[in-house]
Amino acid sequence: MISNSKSGKTVSIFDDENQMLKFLVEKWEDIAHKGIERRGFFTVGLSGGKTPIVFYRKLDEWENKSSFWKKTHVFLVDERFVPYDNEDSNYRMLRETLLEKIPIPKENIHPITTEKGSLEDSAKEYEEALKSFFKVSKGQFPNFDLILLGIGEDGHTASLFPGGKALSEHHRLTAAVVLDEKRHDRITLTLPVINHAEHVIFFVTGANKAPVLRNIIAGDNPSLPASLVQPESGKPLFVIDREAGSQLYA
Ligand code: 6PG
Repeated sequence: MISNSKSGKTVSIFDDENQMLKFLVEKWEDIAHKGIERRGFFTVGLSGGKTPIVFYRKLDEWENKSSFWKKTHVFLVDERFVPYDNEDSNYRMLRETLLEKIPIPKENIHPITTEKGSLEDSAKEYEEALKSFFKVSKGQFPNFDLILLGIGEDGHTASLFPGGKALSEHHRLTAAVVLDEKRHDRITLTLPVINHAEHVIFFVTGANKAPVLRNIIAGDNPSLPASLVQPESGKPLFVIDREAGSQLYA
């Protein structure tokens, strides 16, 4: 593992997948315990996509204790506007890879509702759910203990796409994201919510992500959504494999 913060960003690069997952699990454990100490519970926002699946599967092997999971609240960073049984549903993926396998109480799972009303209704409903859970009033943002993000080849993160309207949302907690006909519309947490988290971890693997990652780490394109993730509490941590990091520091 190499940790490098020369670029002003903290990057941990791994040759070995097991080592990388172990590192992520340890980070999760550390942040979770701090959250539980701080507020009595741990709040985490989880992303969809393919990359985190190996990690979610690993988590159920880790601390399969109901006392811990009882104090854990799982939220979604974003969701595609499809029914929960759709193969593209992030909630379905999370349920199958993690939630069904751990002793977490049902009321600690906070999916984004997509099965009734419009896209905008879903975004509003999630915003209300967040406000009520985190007890935030107007002008305030929830303070997640951890937000786990991925990065797309175009530099998107969560469902914040380059040039998208949601990027300029400074007041709301969630945004409805309308995409082209080939992609499902989505609901996403907004940048202020992500940047208000105690810890933000980007988990990125694969050679196809190397060019965009080089851009983001070097700060070459500051307007890319993933570059706009600048948590008030400190730098985001990038946990990546050798392939994704192959164009860094060249
Ligand atoms: C989603 C995401 C999205 C994802 C990236 C990377 O629901 O798709 O939250 O931001 O993290 O698109 O996706 P992969 O991990 O599949 O490459």
